[in-house]
Amino acid sequence: MPSTSASIFVFDAYGTLFDVHAAMARFRDKVGPEGDRMSEIWRTKQLEYSWTLTMAGHYESFWTLTGRALDYAMARVPSVPKSLRDDLLNAYFKLDAFPDARVALRALKAAGHKTGILSNGSPDMLKGAVDNAGLGDDLDGVLSVDVLKMFKPRPEVYGLVTDHYRCKPADVTFVSSNRWDVMAAVSVGFSGLWVNRSKMPDEYLDFAPRKVLSDLNSLANLP
Ligand code: 2OP
Repeated sequence: MPSTSASIFVFDAYGTLFDVHAAMARFRDKVGPEGDRMSEIWRTKQLEYSWTLTMAGHYESFWTLTGRALDYAMARVPSVPKSLRDDLLNAYFKLDAFPDARVALRALKAAGHKTGILSNGSPDMLKGAVDNAGLGDDLDGVLSVDVLKMFKPRPEVYGLVTDHYRCKPADVTFVSSNRWDVMAAVSVGFSGLWVNRSKMPDEYLDFAPRKVLSDLNSLANLP
């Protein structure tokens, strides 16, 4: 576990605490052999909509964008039965938390740190995912960008953290599997931990994370 004086650990939600591909995996026997490709397109398009709309000065809830991205992905991969659309979409309210998520959150709380989520997810999506995973007692805050009607990586959204915890940016360790998310957090003064679950090559080299982790387990091994 990297040594850090930061006592507030804030996590990205989708891909970091929750497995975005768990939705498709739950229906693997029904989606067919192109399910993984459809899930990748779904996630990529979900994020692309959030970035392009924000850059153009527009906003739709992440729930709306998640549905639109699924429709696009299913149009791209017609072998996936359209009848699964609502089941796949609603699975976002019941995404599995990665096993290391609960372990890390509990260890951080036990060590006296504060914890939280900062996510593009709409408040009801996040409530559903946190409640389903039973993580509510391990989180001191669940912050949705929805209140600002703009998405990550706009710098304003990271201000929700310093406002909520009444802290300085340097007090925050921001943990995300999305390297672009870590870039934005580091650029506003947070200490960044990149959870490189998919073993991607590094990028944004001028906004380096404090440490690159392969999963969240090392957060549980606090000194
Ligand atoms: C988030 O949860 C989209 O993973 C990103 O904000």
